[in-house]
Amino acid sequence: MRFDILTLFPNLFESYLSDSILKRALDQELIDVKFHNIRDYSSDKHHKVDDTPYGGGAGMVMACQPLFDCIKDVKKQNSGPVIFLTPQGERFTQNKANNLAANNKEIILLCGRYEGIDQRVRDQLIDQEISIGDYVLTGGELPAMILIDSIARQIPGVLGNEDSQGEDSFSEKFAGKKEYPHYTKPAEYEGHKVPDVLLSGNHAEIEKWREERLK
Ligand code: ADE
Repeated sequence: MRFDILTLFPNLFESYLSDSILKRALDQELIDVKFHNIRDYSSDKHHKVDDTPYGGGAGMVMACQPLFDCIKDVKKQNSGPVIFLTPQGERFTQNKANNLAANNKEIILLCGRYEGIDQRVRDQLIDQEISIGDYVLTGGELPAMILIDSIARQIPGVLGNEDSQGEDSFSEKFAGKKEYPHYTKPAEYEGHKVPDVLLSGNHAEIEKWREERLK
């Protein structure tokens, strides 16, 4: 799976991609993440990427020229959907992550900053708008990273233990519900005990206990 990220702040992604599961997925070439700094596409002599909104109002708007040129250029290298991360988008869910992972080999993620982007970019070049929740962040970079993480972990081989994905919250196995509580050794910690049933060895009872605790 190839991701192309369009952002003004590519460095924000560095630490998350340079460790743990996503680092291993990159090293094994199960995923590929390419960055494109929108500012590099500005034809302004000061590399300006934003301007004041027509009609007045607070904040700055990311202008057409750098975004049109950047998106058009990246589309030559990546034929996947162009997804804009914005609080106005459709809410991201496990279902959406599953569909994006199943139906694409390439995805373009556009991260906005400031008050927003010129509507003409959205109308002409964006295929899908996604929000990670009803709150406003400083930009689309964290949301883009969340999409990459949730999509990447569904690619065969990315998770160490193939089983662990089928037994996630929201999975078919749990009828789309959230998982039951987990415990590990010791059986008692600072006086707090693991439920007896989990130590009983009675698999039917354990299964029943877990099922009752799905949310
Ligand atoms: N950009 C700023 N806030 C966001 C959110 N909640 N979801 C997606 N992109 C965003």
